[in-house]
Amino acid sequence: MAEFNPKTVGLGYVALGSTDPARAVAHYRDVLGLTETGSEGGATYLSLCGAHHDIVVTKASEKSFVHQGYQLRADIELAAFAKELGAAGFAAQIKSDSQPGVAKLVEIDGPGGVTFQFYKEMERSVAPATPAGIAPLRLGHVAIISPEAAKLFAFYRDVLGFHYTDDIAELAFFLTCNRDHHVVNLVGLPDSRVHHIAFELRDGSDQVRAADILARNGAPTLWGPSRHGAGHNLAGYHHAPDKVMIELYTQMDVYLPALGQHEPRPWHEDYPMVPKSWPLEKMSVWATEFNFNIAMG
Ligand SMILES: [Fe+2]
Repeated sequence: MAEFNPKTVGLGYVALGSTDPARAVAHYRDVLGLTETGSEGGATYLSLCGAHHDIVVTKASEKSFVHQGYQLRADIELAAFAKELGAAGFAAQIKSDSQPGVAKLVEIDGPGGVTFQFYKEMERSVAPATPAGIAPLRLGHVAIISPEAAKLFAFYRDVLGFHYTDDIAELAFFLTCNRDHHVVNLVGLPDSRVHHIAFELRDGSDQVRAADILARNGAPTLWGPSRHGAGHNLAGYHHAPDKVMIELYTQMDVYLPALGQHEPRPWHEDYPMVPKSWPLEKMSVWATEFNFNIAMG
């Protein structure tokens, strides 16, 4: 088993380009319950639990995946990390004040044209006392579709130190840099875009509350809530504006990197539950049928 000492602690934020940013912002703010923390340079910043931003929405001529941000481990220096990225073949740029809330970051164009930002610290404030809407606990993971998924996989594993934790039919590959089953999910298809963005909810009853809020706001649940095989998360999906797929989940597998296995759960198929390739038909272990093409988002 590979050593587990990843460079990053988790996914910090995802920035999306939208043809109708006001409509997209309204969904993240009023339905999902993120708080608007600022608007600058045509971008709107939205936050959960006191982070300056978890989601950024910018005006674009078409729906786009602008960048994603990862927080670096406390003991890693930004300049040293930029050099490491350079040695791995990526032209790293150190940027100051490129966005509010993050004073300094390192940016690269990663495999498949995916833009990565790495930062040490983000401004934080007190979380709103009574969040509106669904109010997820936190941003959990992003799923990325790319024809360069294999190169992205190698980057996450070999440069950032993530562990592989499962795959679905060798089409979708899950990797983590913390105790979540996955922090990123890489889907190898010809398109280049976000497949979905996932937020963690409190528990199963929150799934029901979320489904009611979504239905009332014209963004009904497309699939689920149902339990996945890989990751065993109890997940429901809906479309935000621009057909950006959003996953709301609970009960995701907890990865134990020192053992290279997932913490046992009563709904597991294997004991111990070790990373493996899952068949497509185990997308839902409850056999919940898909009424839309979840593979394509
Ligand atoms: Fe997901």
